[in-house]
Formats: sequence, C-alpha cells, structure tokens
Amino acid sequence: MSLSKETIEIVKATAKPVAENAEAITARMYEILFEHYPEMQVLFKDASPDQHKKLAAAVGAYAVNIEKLELLGDALEKMAQSHVRSGVLPEHYPAVGVSLLTAVKEVLGDAATDDVLSAWKEAYFFLGDLLIAREKALYAAA
Ligand code: HEM
Repeated sequence: MSLSKETIEIVKATAKPVAENAEAITARMYEILFEHYPEMQVLFKDASPDQHKKLAAAVGAYAVNIEKLELLGDALEKMAQSHVRSGVLPEHYPAVGVSLLTAVKEVLGDAATDDVLSAWKEAYFFLGDLLIAREKALYAAA
C-alpha cells in the first residue's frame, strides 16, 4: 500500500501548522487517550515525562519527510524497539490514532477540515502499519 497523491499533498500543505503545534497536539493526545482508554496508561508506566515530545518530534519529522520515508529508517527502528519493550500491540494503534486525530482537530481548529483530517488519518495508519510490521518481526524474534 502507498499513500495517495492527494494525501501527500494535504499532509505537506499542513505539515507546518502540525509541526509548529506538535507538542500541544501530542500532549492533548495523551490526555484524550488516557481519558477514554485508562487501561492503556500501564503501557506508559516507565515512560519519561517528556514522552509526548518524542512523539511530537516523530510526527513532525514524518510530515516533513512524507515523500522520502526512507529517511525515517533509523527513527522507525528506534520507535519499534521502544514499542516492543513496552508491550505495544497492533490493537493499540486505533486508540492512539483516534486520540491523535481528535487532538489535531482541537488544536488546529478551522484549519482541520474533513479533508485534512482524513489525509492525516491515512498517513497515521500508513506509518502505523510500517511500525506494526516491524514490531511483529521483533516480537517473533524475541
Ligand atoms: C504511528 C504511531 C506512533 C508513533 C509515530 C510513535 C512514536 C513513538 C516514539 C518516537 C517513541 C520514542 C522512541 C524512543 O525512545 O526514542 C515512542 C515510544 C513509545 N510509544 Fe509510540 N508511537 C506510535 C504509536 C504508539 C502506540 C499505538 C502506542 C500504544 C499505546 C505507543 C506507545 C508507546 C510507548 C509505551 C513508548 C515508550 C515510552 C517510554 O518508555 O519512554 N506508541 N513512540
């Protein structure tokens, strides 16, 4: 699967406001996630207090590099290893995705049109699928 041209265009066009607000978006994402899925808090029990900054940096880097995802290789590997250490599973991705998109909508306000949100949704699950595949291989090798 690859990202559609429309999605790439929209993500690129909104990469700047998303990157500029990435910390606010991801901080809000965790609030939403733990409010709706309190059982997921345990996964973050060893997480550093600035975990949201790492996710924010990853989201920003992803948006900027949406057309050259090969540049994300090392970062992707680090994320996958960190996820496997924490016990992250494929079924956790939709909860994080919905929370992230809700946060994008709240923080970007009027700029977050339906087209923008659906492009980011597609982009999130594309990245999510790459991570899930790598994590599956790491779990299998463990
Ligand atoms: C596309 C989706 C995701 C992205 C871009 C992402 C990004 C990241 C990044 C950048 C890190 C830090 C890696 C490092 O230590 O250098 C991380 C760690 C982590 N992520 Fe994700 N993540 C995603 C999905 C998820 C999901 C679905 C969960 C499930 C709840 C999750 C839970 C965690 C946990 C528990 C850590 C480790 C925190 C710590 O111990 O400090 N992530 N993630």
